[in-house]
Amino acid sequence: MEYKTAKTTFHRDFTIAHTDDRLYGSFIEHLGRAVYTGIYEPDHPLADEDGFRTDVMKLVQELRVPIVRYPGGNFVSGFRWEDSVGPKESRPRRPELAWRTIETNQFGLNEFMRWCRKVGTEPMMAINLGTRGADAARNLVEYCNLPAGTYYSDLRVQHGAPDPHNIHLWCLGNEMDGPWQIGHKTADEYGRLALETAKVMKWVDPSIELVACGSSNLDMPTFASWEATVLEHTYSHVDYLSMHQYYDNQAQDTADFMASSVAMDAFIRSVISICDYVKAKLKSKKTMYISFDEWNVWYHSKQHDAVLEPWSIAPQQVEDVYNLEDAILVGSMLITLLRHADRVKIACLAQLVNVIAPILTAPGGGVLRQTIFYPFLHASNYGRGTVLAGVVDSPKYDSKNFTDVPMLDCTAVLSDDENELTLFAVNRSEDTPLLWAPSLQGFEAYRIQDHIALEGPDRYAINDFDHPDRVAPIHKALPKENSFLLSPLSWNVIRLIKA
Ligand code: AHR
Repeated sequence: MEYKTAKTTFHRDFTIAHTDDRLYGSFIEHLGRAVYTGIYEPDHPLADEDGFRTDVMKLVQELRVPIVRYPGGNFVSGFRWEDSVGPKESRPRRPELAWRTIETNQFGLNEFMRWCRKVGTEPMMAINLGTRGADAARNLVEYCNLPAGTYYSDLRVQHGAPDPHNIHLWCLGNEMDGPWQIGHKTADEYGRLALETAKVMKWVDPSIELVACGSSNLDMPTFASWEATVLEHTYSHVDYLSMHQYYDNQAQDTADFMASSVAMDAFIRSVISICDYVKAKLKSKKTMYISFDEWNVWYHSKQHDAVLEPWSIAPQQVEDVYNLEDAILVGSMLITLLRHADRVKIACLAQLVNVIAPILTAPGGGVLRQTIFYPFLHASNYGRGTVLAGVVDSPKYDSKNFTDVPMLDCTAVLSDDENELTLFAVNRSEDTPLLWAPSLQGFEAYRIQDHIALEGPDRYAINDFDHPDRVAPIHKALPKENSFLLSPLSWNVIRLIKA
């Protein structure tokens, strides 16, 4: 097969930033089967004494997810946190308006905290700024983070959690710019409410960090002015601004779909500019960081969900089954996040189990690694350390909505002990292999250890319970020199170890 060539120069001294571990966060919402029959299924043969599925916990641990956003998403904007604590038999069943289901509240705040501790992850707790406000939020911080001796901290102790949960990271609502949101607000309405809520939350616990809502996606009509207005209200009281974005290949145009990460890159650059504009306007010395707390591919399940009967409990909802090309784009999105490690400190793959997720469960049955599991696994395990700034020379292509899309997308991460250099690379081309010769300056003593690739002849191939490993990483033959053949539509992880 005819190939094209690409080059990249990495130099040990040309660095972008050290990665924040929280770049590899994820998300569990009370939506569909993320919680019920996802992470929590008391009747399952592999459930532990808390009803948590141990097979799911193992896969979450394999992914080394440092933070999990909870409990929503759109769900949080109608949520009363008090419903989810205390004796299970007294917890109310509620009509859940965001996803039109019944919420039983049999899994709630304290169960989630127990699950986090068992899995070895930290919570990223979202508060309801749709139907509620500062009062419910400050009570929740008191319930979670104060030792004991006040009304809500004593209530937590009474509920079987003697030690404070010490939740460090909090989201001030979810997608408040979206008309679909319960309690949708204008930027001024939200900005004022977020500020007043941030103040009392930090007065209860000054050690916490807060994320303000940015736009729900780049196409929102209020994008940019929303960010600027919200930040003008909240700049001194919040630590991060959120970004959300999902991509789809509804048009079945792979070349265009693979260029989505170019759009993601431009979106991040725009949001950084807006943050810096507000910084300048307010004459602030503080830099605003980004929490990209919802990102993924999402479209396969939309037709199914459009005709779903409302008001059932934990239905099969928003359950995309991912194919190979989705995994390659997810890899490219991870590379994009890494290249912005200086400003994007938090990111959450949305979501973690069953709902647009890398992990799929069968109720009462097995657990499956979806195709997108693998790029996340590799980036989370090998992509922590110092990100290097590469100078990329790649052939380019044009697609329906993009021009000059580099066929090669890549980055490099040097581990903290400096013993390992990992190159991540995607070949976006549908049909042309790329011969990639990265020049690794300052890494002369490093030897190629492994070339892992996710690739295959069928871009629509999926994993299912009958064929769980149809799409799985392979180990390629190692070249003598730094020159790698990247298959069309492939995700590549090249690991070099100091000799
Ligand atoms: O992740 C699914 C949904 O996508 C979330 O509930 C919402 O925040 C976003 O629109």
